[in-house]
Amino acid sequence: MAQKSLNQIRETFLKYFEKNDHKIVESSNLVPNNDPTLMFANSGMVQFKNVFTGLEKRDYQRATTSQKCVRAGGKHNDLENVGYTPRHHTFFEMLGNFSFGDYFKEKAIHYAWDLITKDFGIDKNKLYVTVFHEDDEAFNLWKKIAGLSDDRIIRISTSDNFWSMGEMGPCGPCSEIFYDHGDHLKGGLPGTKNEDGDRFIEIWNLVFMQYEQVTKDKRIDLPKPSVDTGMGLERIAALLQGTHDNYQTDHFKKLISSISDVTKVDQVDNNISSFRVIADHLRASSFLLAEGVLPSNEGRGYVLRRIMRRGMRHSHLLGSKEPIFYKIFDSLKKEMSGSYPELKRSESLIKETLKMEEEKFLVLLDRGIKILNEEISKIDKVLSGEVAFKLYDTFGFPLDLTEDILKNKSLKVDHNKFDDLMKKSKELAKKNWKGSGDSSEEAIWFSIKDKTGPTEFLGYKSNQSEGVILNLLKDNKELKKLSTNEKGIIITNQTPFYGESGGQLGDQGTIVSGNSVFEVEDTQKNLEIYLCIMDQ
Ligand code: ALA
Repeated sequence: MAQKSLNQIRETFLKYFEKNDHKIVESSNLVPNNDPTLMFANSGMVQFKNVFTGLEKRDYQRATTSQKCVRAGGKHNDLENVGYTPRHHTFFEMLGNFSFGDYFKEKAIHYAWDLITKDFGIDKNKLYVTVFHEDDEAFNLWKKIAGLSDDRIIRISTSDNFWSMGEMGPCGPCSEIFYDHGDHLKGGLPGTKNEDGDRFIEIWNLVFMQYEQVTKDKRIDLPKPSVDTGMGLERIAALLQGTHDNYQTDHFKKLISSISDVTKVDQVDNNISSFRVIADHLRASSFLLAEGVLPSNEGRGYVLRRIMRRGMRHSHLLGSKEPIFYKIFDSLKKEMSGSYPELKRSESLIKETLKMEEEKFLVLLDRGIKILNEEISKIDKVLSGEVAFKLYDTFGFPLDLTEDILKNKSLKVDHNKFDDLMKKSKELAKKNWKGSGDSSEEAIWFSIKDKTGPTEFLGYKSNQSEGVILNLLKDNKELKKLSTNEKGIIITNQTPFYGESGGQLGDQGTIVSGNSVFEVEDTQKNLEIYLCIMDQ
């Protein structure tokens, strides 16, 4: 069989499920507008969360997607591994098929096996599967449908075989398919102590969605048993292209060759991590920027800044003295804008922001690295919290960047001292803040911001979204409830309402919570908190 490109593999997957009566649904945004508790979409099921729980109805019961995912910050976080393994990413695409109360375990297993062994032509003798230890039904279905012998169906009792989206939300036992890349690589079967090696790699996770976690201690049944599956496109592309290294696929080879062209450095064994980090972080940064997330010092913007700066430090390691990310973007656009036109639509914003952030950071980076190297020569185990904080505060080094630099020298940072200095610096900023002059009125916002954190603005992409109500206020006093016809202020963790902070007027609109409807007369932004001011 001729080798398929990553783009063709995505297409084959989606078409297979379309042929089997699934609707091809577009990837949702990385910033979830239906889930106020999640930092970024971390899997294909996020956009369907409310469909699983029965809150939302769609006109189809089967769907298939290739979903943009970011796993950095939040429950699923791979940032610090990127660069050091052949398969970790901050940004990746997850292929999936979904049944909303339609088919369940038997068909899910049948489709998965049929696609990988027939359409993808994977050798059955290299495949293993896992099931949740109590799930005899899945065990027997694998025997029946795939003809696997008992020793190839491994029962796992840990959370590895029970999938949840986050602390709350739909969840259920799962069954994973593993591929044996061969005994030239180190690593053991799932469930053994060497399972994290490179030999046996999970390629597809079939989740049998049955429950919804509603509080930390309470799990209820979903209205109907459903299916959610996830297959990392980069991993399956590696396998089908005869490698275990995602960065050796056609897609990443093009990005890596473009990094070489721009930096005039060839990839060799001792700089391989830098090439991987730059390629991966360029993807994550570009897709987040395309959605209007901008580098900042709080929330999602700070995760983006950490990703960008970690990447930019690796371009510096390759010897770049000038910004390079915006130049490599052209190659990413060429590879991916066919499936993700937002890369073309937002091209100028992406390139300008990449360039500006890299220009700014390269100046700080040079000086910060000098200071860090001087310190490193004086210590043998732990970098002081003071130095780590100075690097953060004066040179813009996120803590995980400093840790990444220390990683291959086996050094650590004194976290307690760092946290302590961070807290003191916030207190000082509070003391020195000069608001409107009306101190009793202003003081309240500091204590609220300490409790609630900043509000995330989602209005660049959408004029409707969910949010968690974090606070109710009236006459600048916090309240437990607002009665009918009572005016007040609502603060949410994220909002599509634009908040006035001096220029453009604040948004008006409606907030619905259960049976209550609030008419928003005005929105104000104060210390990065968005205040929705109510009419009734
Ligand atoms: N939601 C499942 C996962 O991310 C399929 O692995």
